[in-house]
This record gives sequence, structure tokens and C-alpha cells, in this order.
Amino acid sequence: MPLPASSSDSSSAPARPLILALETSCDETAVALCDGLGNILAAAISSQIPDHQPYGGVVPELASRNHLLRIRPLITQVMEEAGMEFADIDAFAATAGPGLASSLLIGNTVAKSLAMTCGKPFVAVNHLEGHLLSPFIGRPEGIQPGVALIVSGGHTLLIHLRGTGDYQLLGRTRDDAAGEAFDKVARMLGLPYPGGPVIDRLAKTGDPAAFPFPRSMKDSGDFAFSFSGLKTSMLYLLPQLGDSAASRLPDLCASFQEAVVDVLVSKTLKAARSVGERWVSVSGGVSCNSRLRQVFTERCARAKLGLLLAEPSHTTDNAAMIAFAAAHRIRQGITSPLDSDIDPNLSLTSNPVPA
Ligand code: KG4
Ligand code: ZN
Repeated sequence: MPLPASSSDSSSAPARPLILALETSCDETAVALCDGLGNILAAAISSQIPDHQPYGGVVPELASRNHLLRIRPLITQVMEEAGMEFADIDAFAATAGPGLASSLLIGNTVAKSLAMTCGKPFVAVNHLEGHLLSPFIGRPEGIQPGVALIVSGGHTLLIHLRGTGDYQLLGRTRDDAAGEAFDKVARMLGLPYPGGPVIDRLAKTGDPAAFPFPRSMKDSGDFAFSFSGLKTSMLYLLPQLGDSAASRLPDLCASFQEAVVDVLVSKTLKAARSVGERWVSVSGGVSCNSRLRQVFTERCARAKLGLLLAEPSHTTDNAAMIAFAAAHRIRQGITSPLDSDIDPNLSLTSNPVPA
């Protein structure tokens, strides 16, 4: 199915193609509309955090049921905000993986149904590519080659980003993802889900040097990560502190956070040096962390490395990043067949490459 050519003329009409993207890989239902240049025209997100909070984590059946209830009103909201009709849309995109199968199916089925009904192409987007490219949303310089850190609840990946669709995995976590460590440690401390934002807030009044948590694999000589030892250290420390743990909560949060941040920043900068890139980009839910952003900013400036941090609104799961990734894939001539399947374990390096 041919797509209108990407245009950047100065008329007030948005550049083609217009893409409506759906993100339902986990517990956020999100919809976004972007133009052929990757500008986000409208976006909406419905967080399910309050629905899953009583269970201390995401319940897959609850997530998919909520996606089903929320996706339609969100699409209507985005179309109205952008002042568009379905007939105006040139392509429909959805996250195809990785993620929860029953959640992925909702966004995928809705986007494919719209594509079929409107006779327009469908684009299956890798959720990790969405995160990877999210620091470039709204930047006039376009996708820059560099070293990219993706830190979320499900992933901790270091990628050599050589161009759109050209991604080399440098290293990943061997156990827990960084966000998962934040969430599990928060639970140990009696804090609500998701733990990252709460630890971030409490850490602001704590001493990051109060407890010497381990910096696992900081000097391992490769680009792999491990956060399970750090989690176990907290598990052993809490009974030793006994009743005083409650009053030391800010110190515990600040010290734990400092250990995670130190390893993430040190290894990313080492990776940039190792592959000879001058740019570092950081994305995913944990990249919202205020201390991580501060330390990256300071250490990249010292190392004379360029730094692109995803905008806070594009760090946790959102559809703007899916629409943006779809726009770049469409520019490369890549669309997906309507019988393409979801893949809960989709890897970043298995993305389709331009013919
Ligand atoms: O990218 P995301 O929304 O979902 C995945 O694809 O996994 O990331 C969610 C993760 C959660 O583990 C959450 O605790 C963490 O991001 N997170 C944070 C912060 N905000 C969200 N971690 C540390 N500091 C934050 N401010
Ligand atoms: Zn994510």
C-alpha cells in the first residue's frame, strides 16, 4: 500500500504520513498521533498504576481488561484533540513486543482493525526501539549515532546506536532490570508500587553515602549489569537496623539509588569510550530518576560527551515514542503485514531492516 511522501513544506498542513500509534505492552494504555517528521500532534495516556497498586505489581489479566475498556475513548480523545478523522490517517501502528501477551494483543488488534477498515498500512513497532529513539523526539538534529542506555522496569540495555534500525547490543542485565530493583527494594521498605518515583522522592533528603551498597559489576570489563546482589544487601541490612530502619528511610533510599546510578552512568560512559562515540542517550522509565539525570549531566560534561535525556513525559511507557519509531520505520519503507504476530519476547536486534 503506497504511503504519501514525507513532506516538510511550510504550509500549516502537517507533514505526511500521519500515524496513529497505540501502546499497550504493559500497564499503560496510550495513544499518540504524529506526523511524518516525528512531531507529536496529540497524545493521551491512561495509567493503570492505581489498579495494580494493591497487588504490588502488574496483574496481566487486569491490565488487558483495562486496555480493552480504555483504548477506544483514548483514541477518540486524541483524534478530537488533533482535529482529525480516521480518513486523514495514513498508517496505524502498535507495539508488537516485548511485553505481556494479553496486553500486546489489545493494541495490536485494534490498530490492525483500523488499518484494515481504512485501507491503510499497519506498522508493528518494537517497544524497545520506541524507548531507544524517544530521546530524539522533537530534536531537529534527527537520530544521532551514539551509545544508548535503556533503563526500565523490564530492561537494562546498553546499545550501540549506529543509525535507525542499526542497533548493536553491547550489554544487558544478567538478572533484575534497574526498575525492577527499584520496585523490589521499595516493597522491602514498605513503599508502594511503582517504587522508583517514591525512592527518588525520599532520597532527596537522605545521605547517599550513609550505607555502602555494592556496585556490582562496575569494573567487570564488559557491559553487563547485575542488580540482584544490591537487592540482597538491602534484604540483609534491614533486620540489622531493626526499628531504626523506619527513621533511616531517606538514607536507605539515597544510598540504594546512588549505587544503581553510579553503575549505570559509569558503564555507559565506558561503553561510549570503548566504541568511540561522542553521544550518549538515556531512555526508559528509570531515566526519569532525578539523581540519574543529574549524575549523567555532570559526568558527560566532564567527559565532553553529548547527552540526550528523554523528556520526562517520554520516559515511562507512552505512545508518542511508538508513533515516533513508526515514523522513522515508514521513512525507511518498512510496514508490516496484517497477519504479523505479537512477540512477548521480541528483541531489539530482531527488528526488520530496510530492503
Ligand atoms: O519504561 P517503563 O514505564 O516500563 C517498562 O517498559 O518497564 O518503566 C517503569 C519502571 C518502573 O520500574 C518504575 O519504578 C521506574 O520505571 N521508574 C523510576 C522512576 N520513575 C519510574 N525509577 C527510578 N526513579 C524514577 N523517578
Ligand atoms: Zn517500557
